[in-house]
Amino acid sequence: MTKFSALFQPGRIGTMELKNRIVMSSMGVLLVDSEGAVTDYLLDYYRPRAAGGVGLVNTQCASVNVEAKAMYCLGIFDDGFIEGLKQLFQVIHEEGAKVCVQLMHHGYLIATAGLLPPGITARVPSITSWMPSDMPIAEVSEQDIDGYVEDFARAARRAQQAGADAVEFHACHGCLPGAFMSPVTNLRTDKYGGSEENRMRFPLRIVERVRQTVGKDFPLTVRISASDEVDDGTTIEEAMRQAAMFEEVGIDAINVSAGIEYMTGLNIPCYAYPEGPMVQMATKIKGAVSVPVIAVGRITPELAEQVVAEGGADFVAIGRPLLADPQLANKLKDGRHDDIRPCIYCNNCVRLALPMTCTVNPWLYRESIPLPPAVQKPKKVMVVGGGLAGMQAAVLLAERGHNVSLYEKNNVLGGQWNIATQMPGKEVFASFTEYLKRSLDNSKVSIKFGTEVTKDMVLETKPDAVVVATGATPLLLNIPGADGKNVVQAVDVITGKAQVKGKAVVIGGRFIGIEVSIWLAEQGKDVSIITLMRLGEDGNKLELFTFKTLTKRLIDLRVPIYSHTPVVGITKGSVVTQWGQEIFHIPADTVVMAVGAQSENKLAQELKGLVPEVYKIGDCEKPRDAASATYDAARVAERI
Ligand SMILES: Cc1cc2nc3c(=O)[nH]c(=O)nc-3n(C[C@H](O)[C@H](O)[C@H](O)COP(=O)(O)OP(=O)(O)OC[C@H]3O[C@@H](n4cnc5c(N)ncnc54)[C@H](O)[C@@H]3O)c2cc1C
Ligand SMILES: Cc1cc2nc3c(=O)[nH]c(=O)nc-3n(C[C@H](O)[C@H](O)[C@H](O)COP(=O)(O)O)c2cc1C
Ligand code: SF4
Repeated sequence: MTKFSALFQPGRIGTMELKNRIVMSSMGVLLVDSEGAVTDYLLDYYRPRAAGGVGLVNTQCASVNVEAKAMYCLGIFDDGFIEGLKQLFQVIHEEGAKVCVQLMHHGYLIATAGLLPPGITARVPSITSWMPSDMPIAEVSEQDIDGYVEDFARAARRAQQAGADAVEFHACHGCLPGAFMSPVTNLRTDKYGGSEENRMRFPLRIVERVRQTVGKDFPLTVRISASDEVDDGTTIEEAMRQAAMFEEVGIDAINVSAGIEYMTGLNIPCYAYPEGPMVQMATKIKGAVSVPVIAVGRITPELAEQVVAEGGADFVAIGRPLLADPQLANKLKDGRHDDIRPCIYCNNCVRLALPMTCTVNPWLYRESIPLPPAVQKPKKVMVVGGGLAGMQAAVLLAERGHNVSLYEKNNVLGGQWNIATQMPGKEVFASFTEYLKRSLDNSKVSIKFGTEVTKDMVLETKPDAVVVATGATPLLLNIPGADGKNVVQAVDVITGKAQVKGKAVVIGGRFIGIEVSIWLAEQGKDVSIITLMRLGEDGNKLELFTFKTLTKRLIDLRVPIYSHTPVVGITKGSVVTQWGQEIFHIPADTVVMAVGAQSENKLAQELKGLVPEVYKIGDCEKPRDAASATYDAARVAERI
């Protein structure tokens, strides 16, 4: 008997019987074509997840209206989409899961993720003071509302025609109907704004019309934000009343998320949130309705079991952990818990940067191109560096049948990741190092600890291929005073090698700088942060959900942020900055450097032309992030 017995009880949403209580949460992945139609890539993405043992697959959001469609969002606004959707639902059914289509009008959400198609205007209940004036935005009229109600009804009919088992109405995260529901985004004075009843009028009209269209027995769920997590926004008490109103008009289950996407990071909670930050809200909503409730958000298998067993929710929706490991549900059922590639909530899958991938699953979005079969002629491969890139490459190369030795100059595996995991809140990151260590233990890789590989050692070993994964080390600014005694590296502060005394100034506004500043401020230290560009930017934007979460912490902690501020020098007691022609001294007893990293690629350069095959992977190729490190590792394992 699995220890997850509550999760594997059958369940029911309206007339839909489900084999267990695990729902794959909606995740908008960019695998549709430019019109919004289903592609083979999309089928390849859903197939393993449906086969992975979940009871219900909630599809990514599907746009009910062409003007509401974010770039590369699934479309359901025309009958022409039905054929493709039919194929998608067939694949999901063949793999043993039921399927529910999420119907969405993006509203202002379309404008926020950088996914606004050219020529499209974002539609909102009210234009508010915080909306950028240079963005195409328009308030919807009462006539528009009548049209949107029909759009949802037509989309639901298409879903039904294509063979879906249910539809979900997206009314959360600040999408158009969700924005009508919230007092911070709906400032209207007509019958669609003001009182709670008025703000619910548009979403309830949609449900009534959809219900009329699909008939009384077709399962219909709604996803709501149980709290906006902003001042003057929807509270849990109001959300409970909203849920009850939805039940009254014929909703069969309430999917309880939270947050307005353009204001907080809560709806895709990164590692900086505790486990299950929205679970208690789901439990409160459950107290307000008699239909089933679905809980979501950073829910580990153990928490999922507890929530369902204790009746805190009837179902759990799991999102990112199924990107990390599509087989999660089957592995839980079969007692193979240790085999699960654990999601670490790093949100690299949400960053709008290449490669689009998952830190722990470098096959995400390439599901149909698995690791090539074992080689006929195994090669002698040296993998140099036991960080994430080297560990992942060694495991996969051994899986392909090569004779692999992994060399690490220290006595532990993990590299920089071991520093990252020491940051409060990031402890969950260690579960990936542990997973890779288990994979190495189960492989034939020979691990040589305490061995710093040199060119001579490689020439003596005579490998067929060398994978150089020697990582990166922290950069220092090239300015007067940077070598002073009062200057320390952020990584040394994190590991406790360096002490921060008196007033601290952190230089660097990317994740490490922001995280160290938060950490110091939480310890009661007087800390400010200086960054050359806007906070979070160095030409590329940081992942938005984590950025919003961490920046909100900086603000709550009242950490002064000096953005667009070049640092030109460091003295014994200050950081010297320049704004235009003016020089200012910011008092600093300790200066903490968080200005990026430089590749450790000397060995790779020395080996050029001396060994048949030499590859650089991970931060050794270019300092980036953990997802790029494992992505490089998988690609090199495919090539050798
Ligand atoms: C504080 C901190 C926080 C971070 N937070 C995040 C985050 O939230 N999300 C994210 O995606 N990324 C984060 N990163 C970045 C991420 O850790 C790195 O991008 C990733 O771990 C790089 O892995 P790697 O294997 O390429 O290199 P490394 O981790 O640098 O590993 C290189 C390894 O090679 C060994 N080595 C070097 N030379 C030799 C040699 N000659 N012989 C033998 N061994 C050698 C080193 O000892 C080391 O173990 C963070 C980094 C830090 C420092
Ligand atoms: C890549 C990605 C895309 C998402 N797209 C949607 C979406 O289309 N509709 C939606 O309601 N939620 C969306 N979400 C939110 C998830 O459904 C889920 O609520 C959230 O990730 C929290 O669950 P998790 O911690 O299990 O990942 C998305 C999340 C991710 C990671
Ligand atoms: S990239 Fe990170 S957050 Fe996203 S699924 Fe993978 S491990 Fe989870």
